[in-house]
Amino acid sequence: MSLSFSGRVALVTGGAAGIGRATALAFANEGLQVVVSDVDVDGGEATAALIREAGGDALFVRCDVTRDAEVKVLMERTLGAYGRLDYAFNNAGIEIEKGKLAEGSESEFDAIMGVNVKGVWLCMKHQIPLLLAQGGGAIVNTASVAGLGAAPKMSIYSASKHAVIGLTKSAAVEYAKKKVRVNAVCPAVIDTDMFRRAYEADPKKGEFAAAMHPVGRIGKVEEIATAVLYLCCDNAAFTTGHALAVDGGATAI
Ligand SMILES: NC(=O)c1ccc[n+]([C@@H]2O[C@H](COP(=O)([O-])OP(=O)(O)OC[C@H]3O[C@@H](n4cnc5c(N)ncnc54)[C@H](O)[C@@H]3O)[C@@H](O)[C@H]2O)c1
Repeated sequence: MSLSFSGRVALVTGGAAGIGRATALAFANEGLQVVVSDVDVDGGEATAALIREAGGDALFVRCDVTRDAEVKVLMERTLGAYGRLDYAFNNAGIEIEKGKLAEGSESEFDAIMGVNVKGVWLCMKHQIPLLLAQGGGAIVNTASVAGLGAAPKMSIYSASKHAVIGLTKSAAVEYAKKKVRVNAVCPAVIDTDMFRRAYEADPKKGEFAAAMHPVGRIGKVEEIATAVLYLCCDNAAFTTGHALAVDGGATAI
């Protein structure tokens, strides 16, 4: 299967670490020019450097996805550097909850919704006009299996990821005839800093995390990157408005 990415440009938010970094590297490995974006300047610059060291072409742009003006500048810098945008992976996200719903705070709610929902909405709002002007393109948003069902002690996060899927499906239908495809990827537990922060303090939680996946282990960042590249490529032209679980069978139970 050819992914037919020649001459194309991808943007990855949350590209300083974890799933975002792996996906930025995967895009670059397929020959795309890649804009890496994040609030973490050191991590984002490190991702861009890894791409360049491997012979690729990448630019890091600092952007807080919760800020309309910064997201607008991110798209302007993308066009300024590479002249086009073909694929956007809206992946920046946070998880900070530690308790059940009634134990949550207003500040947690606003922070999680701000990055995970408003951030994805703002990115799509500024990306879609560029894709329309070019005659098409593809967006992949990072949701989660927590966007497909319950996530105890992560209720705000779960609500935010359900919202990502709502934004994804609605935009997909709105722009389908204009050849702008919009899909979501729904990882289960993936081995990233986010996972380590949540589970490393308690090894029992690590064992539980592995056991919740029928394949018997947590996922790898590269396994999410592979799914994102598929959803972007021309071979996926008939796939839009889809929330793809990449979850070791977790949602099949
Ligand atoms: N790791 C998992 O188990 C898992 C499972 C399901 C979904 N996800 C989702 O995958 C995505 C990536 O997570 P990860 O596991 O790679 O985590 P991570 O913490 O390693 O990476 C998230 C990145 O987002 C960036 N970020 C945070 N707030 C931002 C903002 N306001 N603007 C721009 N960038 C910001 C962080 O600096 C970080 O580099 C997130 O949306 C997360 O919710 C992760």
